[in-house]
Amino acid sequence: MQGKIQMLAKTFAGLENVLKEELVELGASDVTVVNRGVMFSGSKEMLYKANFCCHTALRILRIIGVYKVKNANDLYNAVRGINWLEYFEPNQTFAVSSTVNSEAFNNSMFVSLKTKDAIVDQFRAALNKRPSVNTENPDIRVNVHASADDVTLSLDSSGESLHKRGYRIGQNEASMSEVLAAGLLKIAGWKGQCNLIDPMCGSGTIPIEAALIARNIPPGIFRKAFAFESWKDFDEELFDKIYNADYEVPFEHSIFAYDISSLNVKIASENARNAGLKKNIQFKVQDFSSLVPEAEKGLLIVNPPYGQRMNDRQVEPLYTMIGDTLKKNFRGYKAWVFSGSEDGLKKIGLRFSKRYVLYNGPLECEFRNYEMYEGSRKPSKNQGQWQNFNRKGGNNNSYHKGNHQSGQREGPRKRIRKKPD
Ligand SMILES: C[S@@+](CC[C@H](N)C(=O)[O-])C[C@H]1O[C@@H](n2cnc3c(N)ncnc32)[C@H](O)[C@@H]1O
Repeated sequence: MQGKIQMLAKTFAGLENVLKEELVELGASDVTVVNRGVMFSGSKEMLYKANFCCHTALRILRIIGVYKVKNANDLYNAVRGINWLEYFEPNQTFAVSSTVNSEAFNNSMFVSLKTKDAIVDQFRAALNKRPSVNTENPDIRVNVHASADDVTLSLDSSGESLHKRGYRIGQNEASMSEVLAAGLLKIAGWKGQCNLIDPMCGSGTIPIEAALIARNIPPGIFRKAFAFESWKDFDEELFDKIYNADYEVPFEHSIFAYDISSLNVKIASENARNAGLKKNIQFKVQDFSSLVPEAEKGLLIVNPPYGQRMNDRQVEPLYTMIGDTLKKNFRGYKAWVFSGSEDGLKKIGLRFSKRYVLYNGPLECEFRNYEMYEGSRKPSKNQGQWQNFNRKGGNNNSYHKGNHQSGQREGPRKRIRKKPD
């Protein structure tokens, strides 16, 4: 794998622009936003850094071929034309996964099977040996994306989804994805510049991701492995250098994580301890209705119960309480509410200045910004309108800008695990 590599970083709908900004900061070139992803190019170093450092990427695909394909024979020939011996050895295992939206093929299983046959036939013809298929835990993951008559073949360089950071030892039924939490923080302009409050922290995803961003700790330090480490061209020395570089910046402010449930506060604080971030986050059992912040100004991000997911359909009074508490105790704060409850959001009764549409799993949610100042209880002229949002292209907003036990690497890796302290 020499020279410029074409890559696709995948993310959740609505987070494409924050991911683009992360990739540009890391040095990506030819950066283009696509639906639920960002296309970019760069060196092998860029591929490793995108996996190791991005807070809002779910996986990084290395594109190895783009073809016009009309039928199964075309597909077989295109796959057979790639020099697979360059990427892996016959004693390694592989798996093919396909997404198909094409009249040429009516099912993704058939596309995966045809691709697998072409790869195996090439190994047999060249070496008289073939790699085995392992769908559970393959060394090499091949992706096929067929749309109309365009077929893109790529290698998944991440393996397990990058949202599975590895610091979480406990969660509740409403825990959000780490990538979504990081995306919300980035949309809200969080860089560690002030105090941050999550008054309904659940398992602590938002405060923990906030501490990682504030201290510039790459989320990859918690992971046991990336798929690119099994590739034939894996450059261990280069990855060691990236892994052991100095990323951290000082963080002078505090993160406050509260929840009404003592069990959730316990889970959240154990997760933070496991991530080595306990000293940055102050946890407390606290009902939001009586919360008075220590500092006069700051950022507040809250992800209240939605109703559907938490088996509680009576959420409206809770949202009325959130609006009242923000108005009463949080003047001077920038407040953001992330929720999938349309009825609940209506009950907040405050004027919002921005609104983003995002998804929590399949559930459409909104992320609303309320600037807390005197007289903010007037209804907004724009309530009910989509602001700054282009449904087709996703979110086109510009935005304001261890001793870690579960993530210990195994094997003779020279990289030294750095516990945030
Ligand atoms: C949707 S969950 C938050 C999930 C969290 N973002 C995570 O990733 O784990 C909502 C949380 O609000 C808490 N909660 C509900 N009412 C509350 C109140 N009045 N004050 C503080 N927390 C409350 C619940 O205990 C629950 O943990």
